[in-house]
This record gives sequence, C-alpha cells and structure tokens, in this order.
Amino acid sequence: MSAAPAAEPDSDARSFDRWLREALARIEAFLAERLPGEQAEPVDLHRGMRYAVLDGGKRVRPLLAYAAGELVGAPTAVVDHAAAAVELIHAYSLVHDDLPCMDDDVLRRGKPTVHVAFGEATAMLVGDALQAQAFGLLADAARAGARPEAIVRMLAELACAAGSLGMAGGQAIDLASVGRRIDRDTLQRMHERKTGAMLKASVLMGADCGRPLSADERQALVVYADAVGLAFQIVDDILDVEADSGTLGKTAGKDAQHDKPTYVSLLGLDQSKELAQSLRRQAHSALAGFGVGAGRLGALADMIVLRKS
Ligand code: IPE
Ligand code: IPE
Ligand code: MG
Ligand code: MG
Ligand code: MG
Repeated sequence: MSAAPAAEPDSDARSFDRWLREALARIEAFLAERLPGEQAEPVDLHRGMRYAVLDGGKRVRPLLAYAAGELVGAPTAVVDHAAAAVELIHAYSLVHDDLPCMDDDVLRRGKPTVHVAFGEATAMLVGDALQAQAFGLLADAARAGARPEAIVRMLAELACAAGSLGMAGGQAIDLASVGRRIDRDTLQRMHERKTGAMLKASVLMGADCGRPLSADERQALVVYADAVGLAFQIVDDILDVEADSGTLGKTAGKDAQHDKPTYVSLLGLDQSKELAQSLRRQAHSALAGFGVGAGRLGALADMIVLRKS
C-alpha cells in the first residue's frame, strides 16, 4: 500500500494559499490602477473612492470570480474586469450601508467609515461614482478580449444583482425590518438579496468570461453560489455576536444594538452555525460534477464558512 496520498491535503492547501496571495495582489493592483488618481479633480471624491476600495476587505467576491473563471478556462485579464466590477459595487454598498441614515457605523475595514472621513455628501457621491465605474469596467472588458455576448450578459447580471431585486432591495427589506420580528422565510429572502445576490453574480460573471456552460453546469454553479451567498451573511450575523471589533475591522455587536433581525436573533448561535455548515456541504456537493477543476471554489466555500473576520 502506498503512503503517498497523505501528502496531498498539505500541498493542496499550500497551492490554494499561493493562489489566494496572487489573486489578492492582482485585484488590488487592478483596482488601484483603474480607480481615478487622487490628484484627479474633484480630488475629495476621488480620494474618497480610493479610500473606500483600496487596502482593505477580504475581496471574497473577486476571489469567487477568479475561481469560477479558472473553472471554465477564462483569460484572467478578462476576469479582472468582472472581479473589479463586483468589488466596486460591494464597496459602494458598504459606504452607503454605513451612512447615518442606514446602519450608522463609524468603523469599516479597520478605518473610520467614508462619511466620517469625508462627510456624508461625499460618501453618497463615492457610492454613486463607484457604482457607475463598475459598469464602465465591464463595458471596457472588450479591450481585454471579452466576447460582446459575455459583456452584455455580465452587465445584465450585475445590474440585477445590485438593483431593487438584489442588493438594494435586500437593504430596503433590512431597513424595514428593524425592530420587527420576521419569519425565517422573510429573513432568508432578505439575506439572499442583500448579500447572496452579489456573491452569486461574482461566480456567474467569472464563469461568463470562459467557455459556454451546459445548462447542468450553470445550474450547479447557481446552487453552489446560492449556498455560499446565504452562508456568507449567516456567518456575518454570527461574527457580529462572537467576534470583536478589532478582528472584524467594523463595530461588533451592532445588530443586537440596532434590533436587526438576523439568523442569530431568530435561530440562536448553535443552529445558525449548523446551518452555515450544512450550506457549506451543499456548496461542495453542487461542485461534484466539475471534478478537481472546482477545487478553488470548494476551498472558497470553506473559507467563507470558517472565517473569523
Ligand atoms: C460585509 O461584507 C457586508 C456583507 C455583505 C455582509 P464583507 O465581509 O465581504 O466585507 P469586506 O469586503 O471584507 O470588508
Ligand atoms: C450589509 O449587511 C449588506 C450590504 C449590502 C452592504 P450588514 O449591514 O450586516 O453588513 P456589515 O455587518 O455592516 O458589514
Ligand atoms: Mg446593513
Ligand atoms: Mg451594516
Ligand atoms: Mg453585518
């Protein structure tokens, strides 16, 4: 009997770590290059945009786009555009989420929030401008060799994920639910929209950059992305209770403070953790048909559920 397979998990973990470091460096450099420079007029707006986007954040959405792109042999230079577009929409959503009229938060990614550092009006405009640039970057993917059909598809997916049937709609449900007890189905719908929609778009847009998917393959990716999307927000709810502000880089304990309905407030910590684990298993099962090529997406599902910040 050979003892060789014992070395596998370690080398897989090492290769995932290396991939992670490279992908993080790549998206950081791409975003830094594409965002208008700090000297460009209006200076305050551009400084605010760079402050909101650069040097912070786990970059989960770009990582999902890169991993999905790899699965279908997409050119990385094309996926850069998808990865940056989803991160810009996400960064904009955080800037607005933190405003006094929404969650009223003063700490984000370990720094004062954009409205604290730049004022509320600039924070609103930072969000507006990041959203516009996200779509501009997708249109610009043609220069990296993206097929026109892929670009149109990505534009539609991002618009849907960011809009009233996705993130913005989920945020509206979130605000309308403050201080109310909502049932589990409503909570799931809120989480699917405010967070899940953008994670799903990240996976699908990464996949759009490569070879066409069969209907079954696409459906498998949708099941994977729905599972990690919901798991991501459940873990966010758990960390709000269990982690400290220093580790999170944002104020811990604010969901209870603001009387927000969350998985923890509805189901308790233990059941929320079990649910996150069960979604992690669902995500892995969905990838089974792709074989080893989906290893990175599987590792990202683990990272999303096991993360501590
Ligand atoms: C926080 O997202 C907001 C949610 C959708 C839960 P992330 O936890 O991905 O925030 P960053 O990008 O790492 O700062
Ligand atoms: C925000 O959810 C989801 C977004 C669309 C930005 P949260 O309000 O729970 O995110 P955090 O905890 O402030 O990062
Ligand atoms: Mg919020
Ligand atoms: Mg918030
Ligand atoms: Mg939260």
